[in-house]
Amino acid sequence: MRDKQGYLISFEGLDGAGKTTQVELLARWLDSTERSYIQTREPGGTPLGGEIRQLLFHRPELTITPLAEAFLFQADRAQHFATVILPALAAGKVVITDRCFDSSLAYQGAARGVGAELVKHLSLIAIQDRVPDLTILLDLDATKVRERTDHAQDHSGQRGQRSRFDAESEQFHQRLRAEFLALARAEPERIKVIDASRAPELIHREIVALVEWLFRDGAL
Ligand code: TYD
Repeated sequence: MRDKQGYLISFEGLDGAGKTTQVELLARWLDSTERSYIQTREPGGTPLGGEIRQLLFHRPELTITPLAEAFLFQADRAQHFATVILPALAAGKVVITDRCFDSSLAYQGAARGVGAELVKHLSLIAIQDRVPDLTILLDLDATKVRERTDHAQDHSGQRGQRSRFDAESEQFHQRLRAEFLALARAEPERIKVIDASRAPELIHREIVALVEWLFRDGAL
């Protein structure tokens, strides 16, 4: 039997898979329900996280090592869970987060070579063992992702500083995709793979069906 806490829903996938659009669409849908919710993201869901984001994405001269990078994402996450996510869940809210710890497993653990065990251990400490109830994995072929990000601008409208990993090779993105899919195979109840190559409205409908299911049964 589930306690009376809120629901934690995370969105994952490669950069350019359409997470931001789907997070927005789900938030608009929640607006039309009685549910109270918050919309947040990692990294950068807190003031400290905003500073960490700056360090990670806009200070190339710091040449942050993969291990240091892994710790920075976990510091962001520890602050995010302690001050934003866990209090919102305790208040019975739905929390939608654009990325969560699966990103660390895929990016730092696998693609950056820090190691799955260490990153998982650190992640569980940072999230205080509160794993998401539902994780939507927007799956897209690495070559399609490249086409999309090549045409995109970052949230501030700047070109050339879109994300830490935009400049990485296609091989890096293929490795990431494979890792995300492996995570989904290992936890099929929690992580739902959605084909992100289709029209946003279709994808949204599929996500709403999963979320309605979650709300109805308390678990997937
Ligand atoms: P962001 O600008 O938020 O865009 P998007 O999520 O749409 O790609 O970029 C976040 C970047 O940080 C993204 O490339 C994935 C990466 N990341 C990690 O490497 N590890 C993590 O734990 C998280 C949360 C993100």
